[in-house]
Formats: sequence, C-alpha cells, structure tokens
Amino acid sequence: MAPSAVETATITVPAVSNWKLAAAANHKDQYKELSPVEFDPDSEAGKKGFNAAKYPRYLPTWNPSQKYPPLQPFEHYEHGKDADPSFLDLLPSGTSVNHLTPTIGTEVSGIQLSSLSAAGKDQLARFVAERKVVAFRGQDFADLPIEKALEFGGYFGRHHIHPTSGSPEGYPEIHLVHRGAGDNSVDQFFANRTSSVAWHSDVSYEQQPPGTTFLYILDKPEVGGDTLFVDAVEAYNRLSPLFRERLHGLKATHSGIEQVNAAAARGSIKRREPVVNEHPVVRTHPVTGEKALYVNPQFTRDIVGFKKEESDAILKFLYDHLAFGADFQARIHWEEGTVVVWDNRVTQHSALIDWKNGQRRHLARITPQAERPFETPFKA
Ligand code: SIN
Repeated sequence: MAPSAVETATITVPAVSNWKLAAAANHKDQYKELSPVEFDPDSEAGKKGFNAAKYPRYLPTWNPSQKYPPLQPFEHYEHGKDADPSFLDLLPSGTSVNHLTPTIGTEVSGIQLSSLSAAGKDQLARFVAERKVVAFRGQDFADLPIEKALEFGGYFGRHHIHPTSGSPEGYPEIHLVHRGAGDNSVDQFFANRTSSVAWHSDVSYEQQPPGTTFLYILDKPEVGGDTLFVDAVEAYNRLSPLFRERLHGLKATHSGIEQVNAAAARGSIKRREPVVNEHPVVRTHPVTGEKALYVNPQFTRDIVGFKKEESDAILKFLYDHLAFGADFQARIHWEEGTVVVWDNRVTQHSALIDWKNGQRRHLARITPQAERPFETPFKA
C-alpha cells in the first residue's frame, strides 16, 4: 500500500504581492501532518463575529527566504537516563497526578513546567517516556517570550525546523497548527473525507526523529479539537511472540518527499530538500528499554526487502492494529493553559477536526530531535 500523505485540493490563488498573503492563499488546504495550518489574513483582527487570535505573535508565516542545508547527524544526549525515578523534582508532594488509562496518558496539575530545575527536566523526559503522553494543566508556557519557550525545549534535544510548516515570524523552530477564526476549512475538509483521523509520529522520515515533544494551546474551539494518542509499546506487546519475533530485524522506509511536494504544488515554502530514511519496524526506547512499533501511515512507505504485496499487507495490519486499539489509546482534551508532552518515539497521534466550523484552533509545537532509532534483540 502506498499511504496517501497529502491533501491535494486545488485552491484559487488571489493576486497578491506580499509573500505572507501569497503563502496564506497557497495554504488553504495544505498538507496535514496533521498540521492543518491555515493562514487567515484577518486573523489578527478576527473576522466579523469571530474573536481575534489570543496570541497574534504566534500566527503562522511562511518565509520563502528560509532555506536550510540537509540536517547533519548529531550526538543526542538523552536526559531521561539521568532521571531520579522518584520524580520528586517534577512531581513534589501536593501535585495532582491522574492517570487516564493504565498504560498511556496522565494529567498533571499544580506544577509549572517553566520553573523546573535540570533534575525536574530529566524526570520530565523519563516520566513522559513511561506514561507516553502527559497533559500539564494551568501552564504559563504560552505567555513566555518565545525565546524562553525554545530555551526550555532545547534542553531535550536539537530543535527540529519543519520543512514546510508555518511558524511565528523569526522563529522557524516553532511548528504551528492553526485554523483561523471565521474560515470554513472544517466543512471543506469533509467535502472529500469521511474522517480526520490521521495517525502519525512527527517527521519520522528524519534520520533522527523527535523524542520528547511539546504542544501547547493558544486558542481552542469551544468543544472539540482533541488530540488522540496511541501507545505503540502496548501495541507491540499485544502481538503474539511469534509475530513480534518476525517483525524484529525488519526495516521500513519513511519518506518526507510527498509532504514537501504537496506544499510545493501549492506554491508554498520548502526550507530543506526532503529525505527518505530507513528505520527499524520495532524500535527500543533508550531510557525504559521498552519496544514500540515504529511504522505510521503518514510517512512509512514500505518494508525493506519485502515484495510490494507482502509489505502492504503487513503495514496495513500494523496500521489497523494501532488505529483500532482504543484499549491502548488516550484522548487529550485541551484546556486553556495546557501543555501536552509526548514521547514521539513510542506513540502516534492524530488531531481531531470535529469542531464547529469557524472557530479558531491554534497550537504551537516544539519538536526536539532525539537519537537515531535503534532496535534491541527480541525477547520472548
Ligand atoms: C501534531 O500533529 O503535532 C499536532 C496535533 C494536533 O493538532 O492536535
């Protein structure tokens, strides 16, 4: 199977000279990773009857002069390895910690991520690796100067700069998810699609894909726009030992080509040439030692060495297994002030585009890269 990674709707491009507006027009239904980045030229003021953006400094821009060379390999330092497993610097007594399901998802309130010590940050990396996704409520993150938010995220790895997505002017390291107030992009989306669910792990085509990843809410619809997460470790563990054993040693290709091509077809930016990388189908987490399925329908293309039909069948089985596993998934509901942190190595996620048309959904992602995926031997 060759999973479709792109939205291909044609749009009308108005005559504009300003690159921001041109980019905006060209992003009317751009590729969703799922980053349904919509630039609404009226966003700052808000269209009639709709609220202005709460965080205008975070509105997306696409600057065609941002051009970067290929990413070079780097030595990732995994801070989770240094964490004290008591988690007392991250979760001192009095912190509210509620697990959403036995294996994946926790809600935390009563601490401020931006005030964590280095020990607290180490514990954050490990806690998130263990719980897969954690929603921190009541955070001041969105109100920090953007430099401070980036400084915080940079502790966890080298910042990833997305090849195509919108970013706040001057901060290409921030990946924005934005549907503007007053647009009809939700209706447009469902003109050609029955569901918005699109499972993926972020930019898995990179040689060193992200690890501890941060997404924070800026503006949210009244109801809806939750994010689904699936625990790829539990998905692996649910398979029979014989099947797991067969998956070990396999590699799959992950491609960023379609994402860049789809953006280019709309006249959007290309910050870097796209890459294809091979990763193990089962990857091991460097801190927990847990093994996770590492294929996703957005970016994985084929299993190396298998014939097309063999590869398609195995990948379809794995995608379905991950997608249907409601008993190893968590649904994160956004509240004002929420920062969601997930471990991109051992989870996949999907935005849900289900809210009432016309409301703004606006989030910012900080995406530190981690180690090159590796695999440890199968154990029954
Ligand atoms: C993402 O894919 O990183 C964003 C998810 C979301 O918009 O909920």
